[in-house]
Amino acid sequence: MMFGRLHSCYFLWYYVVFECIIEDPKLTNSIHPTDQYVRLPGPIELCHLMLQARIRRGDFVVDATVGNGHDTAFLAELVGPDGLVFGFDIQAEAIDQTSQRLLEAGFENRVRLVQCGHENAVETIDDFHADRISAVVFNLGYLPGGDKKIVTTPRTTVQALQRFASIISAEGLITVVVYPGHEGGMEETKAVVEWASSLDSDKFLVTSYGFVNRPHHPPFSILLERRK
Ligand SMILES: C[S@@+](CC[C@H](N)C(=O)[O-])C[C@H]1O[C@@H](n2cnc3c(N)ncnc32)[C@H](O)[C@@H]1O
Repeated sequence: MMFGRLHSCYFLWYYVVFECIIEDPKLTNSIHPTDQYVRLPGPIELCHLMLQARIRRGDFVVDATVGNGHDTAFLAELVGPDGLVFGFDIQAEAIDQTSQRLLEAGFENRVRLVQCGHENAVETIDDFHADRISAVVFNLGYLPGGDKKIVTTPRTTVQALQRFASIISAEGLITVVVYPGHEGGMEETKAVVEWASSLDSDKFLVTSYGFVNRPHHPPFSILLERRK
């Protein structure tokens, strides 16, 4: 009788400790996911980490400022061959650079590039895709290596954000990297922060992230998640 009880106790403990705790990867991996040193990410890296966690193969996403195409190629890889990236920029140079990068990566069939301002981008996307956009990426400022006078502007940036915020899917993500350090960048940053802060917290989660002890007004990111 006693032995029987002890025996069943032993099996209970075996089950709890080995089957539920040690063998459950959710519990064991969540404590120490890796032994590697993980540095704090920069603002663009943080956006990429969140996009990587959120975007699924087959998704439809937007790069609102394609520039040299780094973000576009990153998004094209995430959506895979069945997904689609809509990319926008006002400069022909940026569209050409990005097309070249996509060709080299073999991603040209997953991306539709349009030379137009992001404030007018939603009109160029057909309803089927516009109703299913799961992520929108803004990397503001000027084209690296290009004309530094051609920059994103407060009015058009906020217009574009507003329009994408009104169509993004539930649980969709909008990432924005702002550059307060360049000419006109502080005004644009203030406009974006003011707009994002005014969003209804029942509809959007909004966070900002950046290094606070770096000189010359470093860039930071603002991430918005559409709630269900
Ligand atoms: C910082 S760059 C983008 C970098 C890019 N995401 C990359 O990975 O290389 C900003 C880009 O925004 C573009 N831009 C400026 N005003 C714009 C607008 N109204 N609509 C779309 N793109 C715009 C610029 O031409 C420039 O190429």
